[in-house]
Amino acid sequence: MKTSRKAKTAFFCSQCGAEHPKWQGQCRECAAWNSLIEEKARSGKVTRRSSTSIDPQALTRISHDSTKGYVSGVGELDRVLGGQLLPGMTVLIGGEPGIGKSTLLLQAADAYSRQGLSVLYVTGEESLSQLKRRAERLGVDGERVAAVNATNLEEIVSLLGKSHYAVVLIDSIQTVSSDSFDSPPGTVAQVREAANQLVTLAKATGFALILVGHVTKEGMVAGPKVLEHIVDTVIYFEGDSSQLYRVLRVTKNRYRAANEMGLFQMNSSGLTEVTNPSSFFLSDDNRTSRVGSVVAGVCEGHRPLMIDVQALVTTAAYGNPQRVAGGIDNKKLSLLLAVLEKRCDYPMATNDVFVSVAGGLRLSEPALDLPLLVAIVSSLMNRPVDGQTLVVGEVGLSGEVRAIAEINRLASEAAKLGFRTMVLPEANLEHVTEKSIELIGVKDIQTALDKVIG
Ligand SMILES: Nc1ncnc2c1ncn2[C@@H]1O[C@H](COP(=O)(O)OP(=O)(O)OP(=O)(O)O)[C@@H](O)[C@H]1O
Ligand SMILES: [Mg+2]
Repeated sequence: MKTSRKAKTAFFCSQCGAEHPKWQGQCRECAAWNSLIEEKARSGKVTRRSSTSIDPQALTRISHDSTKGYVSGVGELDRVLGGQLLPGMTVLIGGEPGIGKSTLLLQAADAYSRQGLSVLYVTGEESLSQLKRRAERLGVDGERVAAVNATNLEEIVSLLGKSHYAVVLIDSIQTVSSDSFDSPPGTVAQVREAANQLVTLAKATGFALILVGHVTKEGMVAGPKVLEHIVDTVIYFEGDSSQLYRVLRVTKNRYRAANEMGLFQMNSSGLTEVTNPSSFFLSDDNRTSRVGSVVAGVCEGHRPLMIDVQALVTTAAYGNPQRVAGGIDNKKLSLLLAVLEKRCDYPMATNDVFVSVAGGLRLSEPALDLPLLVAIVSSLMNRPVDGQTLVVGEVGLSGEVRAIAEINRLASEAAKLGFRTMVLPEANLEHVTEKSIELIGVKDIQTALDKVIG
């Protein structure tokens, strides 16, 4: 008698991808609530092998991979990739819908091909004619870029086995699906399987692999979180779609410090590098003194950025004062206001406070604390801040101004951009070698306010 075998299913966490035999309310790995979804488990038995070809080696014996990395020639991209794309390296580029991931990928494909490398662009989301239309708009001739519209994992793997490419780009990993699973593309099991197989193949064959991964605001099914563990480097492509600039931000890099960023501008002919990042976010070159506006200095990775931070303080019309922060964390703003009220006696509880970082850039640098407070007090007191003064410093809970990192880079960049004065933490003062800018060291918030606002 023939019995029908029931398809075996398992429950996968949509946040971290952990597998559970039964449904439960909370994932046992990452503790996320209500994140388990049922999917067909992989068919086939686990086989035990009696012999193996894997062979452990002493670390000293392992030969250095002498192959050189690939440089695209697009400085901002190379920087976030740690200087070069290494053979076998796997990169995940995540970003919200429509931010420009495919544009970046196509331009990267073109850049690598111009360096004489063979590039394969696998698109699962767009037809080849759509890709061609974009390529024409971006001015990409793509002589050495091979494009294919494919979504089947086994087909892609066999294609990669047949011909050798130096760089393989997949747009996007959510569209790739394997025959071993019944679940639709984009589900946790499919995404994880596709990423696993492609990454393994990249390491074995030696091509560099760049995957595009979708993120949604809700952190929906099989967002890059599952993938982040698998790949070497994770980069987020972000920016405000109403703004022209786009930021490539590294969140993980297995071989380099993960704090670099790359800055691009988006226009009809695609992404162009921002060549003057340090002054890109300054509102004008001819700097005048204004109320509630301060120039702050922060170091993103090893690059100094000078940014306008602005504040508007008005009397609260209703019971609860409003705190609205653009570009920084709202909690951070509340904390800074609490310090200002408690340590310097400014009446913040009766005022609405709005702050924003120019250009809508999102920053979490502690060096922004002091300039934000200066901007807030300047607006509150209606007194201008000198536009030729740069302010940097982290603020502690007791109102002290703490030292920040990379002070020398900031000081020399500020001098280069023509700032006259730099207000900085006193603890940093002795480390600054730049002599062409007036340095004012401050110990606490009140001293800084006295010096800058007067
Ligand atoms: N003709 C154009 N002129 C200016 N900007 C354009 C033009 N066409 C597209 N763009 C920009 O490119 C963006 C879309 O880029 P792209 O398709 O690379 O995004 P994506 O991140 O791949 O999106 P998806 O998530 O849908 O794949 C648009 O949001 C728009 O800002
Ligand atoms: Mg796209």
